[in-house]
Amino acid sequence: MAQGNVVNQMFSGIASRYDLANRVLSFGLCVLWRNRLIASVAKLNPKEVVDLATGSGDVAIAMSESLPSTTKITGYDFCEPMLDIARSRAAHENKSIEFLTGDCMKLPMSDASCEVVTIAYGVRNFEHREQGLKELARITQNHGSVFILEFSQPSKLFWPLHFIHVRIISPILAGLLTGDFGAYRYLGSSIADFPDADGLTVELKKVGFSEVTYELFLCGTVALHRAKK
Ligand SMILES: C[S@@+](CC[C@H](N)C(=O)[O-])C[C@H]1O[C@@H](n2cnc3c(N)ncnc32)[C@H](O)[C@@H]1O
Repeated sequence: MAQGNVVNQMFSGIASRYDLANRVLSFGLCVLWRNRLIASVAKLNPKEVVDLATGSGDVAIAMSESLPSTTKITGYDFCEPMLDIARSRAAHENKSIEFLTGDCMKLPMSDASCEVVTIAYGVRNFEHREQGLKELARITQNHGSVFILEFSQPSKLFWPLHFIHVRIISPILAGLLTGDFGAYRYLGSSIADFPDADGLTVELKKVGFSEVTYELFLCGTVALHRAKK
């Protein structure tokens, strides 16, 4: 797992073109997966949602469009340039979402204080995954829910295509778009090192979550986990 300061620096470097690169590399599918996450959250009709590793605020801002205006949404990230983009997007779209600095290794929230926690493409970047998952469990209320949208391990049949896309095409394409080829080589290796959906389920249960379920997208390339405290 990459060191937190290295990850932070990397996202600082690509912040201004992060959203564009995402859309291009996923052929727009990232929007559909994000919307599946938001639809699952909306079913719970929460009063408050905390979006961790919120980045440029993509999930938090889209969530504010689907959830009632009374739902309080707060985004946390440790990368200031990503938060700056989130804040200016929210201001531009007239959204009252708070974007705050917070490291998922030691979150600035008290125990059992969050009703619903979301995190999209963040867990894979944790310096210590178990510590981060324990933090998620610590801040979640009893009977609260956590939703994790993350890359996963594709089916054997899809694996060669996935490998070519993630290891060869993405670093070149995203490198050209963002000017940072290294960041997208890291993307490929971080995906390869990440557990499959069953593996993440085991890790979530180990830190105290129950009723862990998941759905897979694009032959297992991406997984949406839901876990209850
Ligand atoms: C791939 S981006 C995802 C951003 C956003 N959730 C999305 O769906 O577009 C990963 C984000 O996780 C943040 N991140 C990684 N490790 C973190 C940590 N330990 N604490 C807080 N944020 C972290 C990075 O700064 C970056 O903004």
